[in-house]
Amino acid sequence: MKATAVAPANIAFIKYWGKADDALRLPLNSSISMNLSECTTTTTVKFSSSYSEDVVEFLDQEALTILSRSREDCQWESLRVSKHLDSMRARAGSTWHARVLTKNSFPKSAGIASSASGFAALTVAAVAALGLALFEKELTILARLGSGSACRSIPDGFVEWVKGNNSQSSYARSLHPADYWDLRDIILVVEKGRKKTGSTQGMGKARTSPFFGRRLRDIPDRIKEVKRALAQKDIERLGVVMEEDCINMHAVAMTQKPPIFYWNGLTMEIIRSVNEWRAEGLPVYFTIDAGPNVHLICEAKDEEVVVKKTKTLSGVIEIIVNKPSQGVRLVDTHLF
Ligand code: DP6
Repeated sequence: MKATAVAPANIAFIKYWGKADDALRLPLNSSISMNLSECTTTTTVKFSSSYSEDVVEFLDQEALTILSRSREDCQWESLRVSKHLDSMRARAGSTWHARVLTKNSFPKSAGIASSASGFAALTVAAVAALGLALFEKELTILARLGSGSACRSIPDGFVEWVKGNNSQSSYARSLHPADYWDLRDIILVVEKGRKKTGSTQGMGKARTSPFFGRRLRDIPDRIKEVKRALAQKDIERLGVVMEEDCINMHAVAMTQKPPIFYWNGLTMEIIRSVNEWRAEGLPVYFTIDAGPNVHLICEAKDEEVVVKKTKTLSGVIEIIVNKPSQGVRLVDTHLF
């Protein structure tokens, strides 16, 4: 009754921002993302009749110590994990409690989608530990209930989350495998630590922005454009529409009531530099999730030059170079 899964985080080219149904995490728009090779969550889940409660623990980045369960952020996340386990227990007809141990390969809650990799790994490990055999589509639907973007970390490579209009029709599917196009996502970490307004809370107010309706009307065309760019492996086409969607999502966030500013000064400086590098002929484009860190998307052939350029920027704490990755997978090495 024990299983371990490794799931990648993903970076959205077209962002999910706003829900039609909060409890079911049904999105108001479809989204498209790429799984990330170097940003993973590993989670071991064990169910036992001898446990009297769910115990959820987080290993720190070096996997040396278990973060205190009394930490406020860990307590909050433990509750969310326990609630998600309930959906899976209900599915399996089990009442057993679980021990969950989880470890990230990247800074937790820093605008790199830790909830995506976290809930994808948790879902797949728990489903396996409960002895359920589910198709990929079902797994994406279950992962979505834990965190919307988690459904995109289940399938391989480049993934679309089809918004749907009820729980069964809102699922994720692979558009292309990881080895289809050798892209890079070079993450510039400019701030570590927990973000002030998480994405769940942030997108809860999306409808209060006067620009949100317009965003929703424009997204179907952007989805088509990203699919065309992927089909043609056209980095410029992908980059232009991806930046447009990112700026648009942040414009919505900045005009919500109350407004949310995820960017900091360095975020803005990087955006300006990327524009300069592009003017010099380097095909590199940016996107940013619900935090200040910047993701630079380019082709593998330009990785070296882009990394060199980013090293001239002061204040960047860490650079993480990702390739496209396969989706979630079960492994034999358990964390306990
Ligand atoms: C800005 O999936 O974290 O990263 O469903 O409430 O858990 P919940 O939200 P979450 O939102 C991610 C928002 C985003 C854009 C994206 O990844 O599409």
